[in-house]
Formats: sequence, structure tokens, C-alpha cells
Amino acid sequence: MSLAFALDQVMQRGWEPIELPAPVAIDALPTPALVLDEAAFKRNLQRMQSFQDAHAMGVRPHAKTHKCPIVAKRQLDNGAVSVCAAKLSEAAALVAAGVDDVLITSPIVTPAKLELLAELATRASGLKIVVDSDLGLNGLLESGARLGVLVDIDVAMGRTGTRDPESVLRLADTAAQSDALEFLGVQHYAGHVMHVAGFDARKTASLELWSGLEATLDGLAKHGLEASIVTGGGTGTYNIDCDVPFVTDLQVGSYIFMDHEYRLIGGETSEFFDDFEVSLTVLTTVISEPVPGRAVTVDGGFKVFASDTVDPQPMDLAGAKFRFGGDEHGILILDKGVQQPLLGGVQRFLTPHCDPTVNLHDHYWVEDEDGMVRSVWPVTARGCSW
Ligand SMILES: Cc1ncc(COP(=O)(O)O)c(C=O)c1O
Repeated sequence: MSLAFALDQVMQRGWEPIELPAPVAIDALPTPALVLDEAAFKRNLQRMQSFQDAHAMGVRPHAKTHKCPIVAKRQLDNGAVSVCAAKLSEAAALVAAGVDDVLITSPIVTPAKLELLAELATRASGLKIVVDSDLGLNGLLESGARLGVLVDIDVAMGRTGTRDPESVLRLADTAAQSDALEFLGVQHYAGHVMHVAGFDARKTASLELWSGLEATLDGLAKHGLEASIVTGGGTGTYNIDCDVPFVTDLQVGSYIFMDHEYRLIGGETSEFFDDFEVSLTVLTTVISEPVPGRAVTVDGGFKVFASDTVDPQPMDLAGAKFRFGGDEHGILILDKGVQQPLLGGVQRFLTPHCDPTVNLHDHYWVEDEDGMVRSVWPVTARGCSW
């Protein structure tokens, strides 16, 4: 049975900005609302790109963070070498919007999905994918897909990637021998290092893992298999991995938005990791006062905020702590003496973890410097986790 409809359904989604007929003040938005401060977002884009340019390091931003072709295009216009997608459907949403060069950073092993990948590859000349198993690579060859291939290498994370240097060599060699595939290089992503608290500890951990790759890369070179792409890293190690000589580009994601989880890891010289600005927030409204003076309820719960790590962080309200009140609600517990927020008033939150928070929303309300919203950007690849 052909599953092409699934690809078509994603590729037909809207992705262009929607201009509002008249500007709307930020506190008049229908809440819960995901709000993007465009000026801060732009500064984050520029800061990362100019930093990596100065280190002769490429930027291959990960679209898993934003799921938005408009953002991907901004990243490319700003100098990114290409973009990443976590999964096939996320890549399809980007390709449909004209983003042709996309690296899928997670392996695919099943025939049905490989068939869809082969179909997508006919529509995107720059499509690439990682492989980490013979099953996946043989399936890719059988699917007839024509695209670039990187071998996913794991050093210590234990998620995807092969740890066996012989497998790396065999997979690279098989891809290089094939007419349909092009062996392009390797991926090494150490997600467990991104949130190591303290710059020095993070630096030691990340550089040690990268050094674990050297022998494998030497082995490839000895067999005439040139890795023209060596990609990996993320926001937490952007100013560490930039100095690894054999790395070609970094797959930074969260830097465009930042979130509470990332801020807590600490910067090179600062208590909070604030090299990039918070550009993404969630607006809610106080809709009830269950315990006057001690607790108020806002209209955002598990369906609005990611709940995998830290709690959403109320902004501009010292002495209040958020706790989830179920799918639809959040409860702000107020310290004694804290001025109770007004019923009907807006409460703004720093996102706990930006990627899964974005995936809960249909669009970004784009806030201009005057606090007005004039356009809306669709989260086109929302739910595209297959
Ligand atoms: C493979 C891969 N690369 C890059 C990233 C981007 O990471 P960050 O948001 O920490 O920059 C992720 C995030 O989970 C990832 O899974």
C-alpha cells in the first residue's frame, strides 16, 4: 500500500507568513500564545553566525527546534550551510517550502518509510540522511533512493549511531560504492553533553568525545573515504566545538529561542547561559483565583508547555512558582506578600524546553519592537515526528 498521502498531507501545509489585517497589542492576543520577539531572534541568528564565521566553522541549524520554514530560510539567508531535520516528515515540510538542502539526523530502517524517503529525494536535490546499520543502508539501496549519506557515529550517548569503527568503514564504503548514494561524511551528536552544568565541565566532556572520533576518521581516510562533512554539536557546546579542527559544521538548534533549561547550564563567564537572548515566550491569562492571595490559575498546562524538564518560568513576577494544574491549566503559587496578579491579566513565561513547547502550538505570534504583532508564522511541521 502506498503511503504517499502522508507525505502529501505534510507538503500541502501552509508555511508562508500570515499578515494580520491590523496590528494587535501583545496583551490582546488570544492566549495561550507562543510569541516570538523578532528583533531578539534576529540578533541570535547574527550572533551565532558571526561567531562561527570567526572560527571558520559552518552552521547547520537544526529545524527540530522551530519546525518553521520561514525560520529555516532566515537561517540560510544569514549564512547557514544547510539545515537539519530530525525526521522524514519534518524534512518534507521544509522541502515543500523550497528548502532543498536538508540533513535528516535520525536513521530510517523500515521499507515503508524508506520508500517515502526515496520519493522525497526526487523533490529535493540536497536531501541527505544518516545511517547507522546495515539494515538501514541495505533498505536505502533497495528503495532506489538517490541522496547523500552520512554515517552516524556514537561515542558515548547511547541513542543513535554506531560505536564500531568497522561498521563505520563498511557503511561508508557501501555507500561510496553505490551509484545511487553519495557518501558525504559523518555525524556525531552528543546530546547528553549539551546541558552539562558549568562551562569547564562541558568543555572537557565535549572535547573528550570528539577526540574519540579521530581514529575512526583516520581509518576512513586510509581507505580513501573522505568525510567532507563532519557534523554535530549543539547550542550548549557552540563555543567549545567551534575549535575542533576536523569538525565542519555545528547543528545548533535552541540558540534562536533559548529556554529556561538552557539558561540554567551557566555560561563561560556568567551564572546563566545568556550568550543568546530569550526570544520565545508563552503568554497566558489569569482565569481564576482559587485561593485568593496565595494562588491564581492561568490558561496553560501540559498542552501548552513542555513538561519533560524544568517548570515554565513566570517572567516579571518574582515570588511566584508555576505548577502544572493538568492539561489545560497552570497554577501560580504566590509567596506571602506577593501582589496577586489581576484576574484577566496576562502572565508571560519563559519556555521550559523550547523544542517540545513549539510542537504544541500552531503558530508564532511575531512581536515587533513596539510590542505589536503584525504577522504570524505557521509552525508548519508541528507534529511531524515520523
Ligand atoms: C541530532 C541533533 N543535533 C542537534 C540538536 C540541537 O541541539 P540544541 O537545541 O541543543 O542546539 C539536536 C537537539 O536535540 C539533535 O538531536
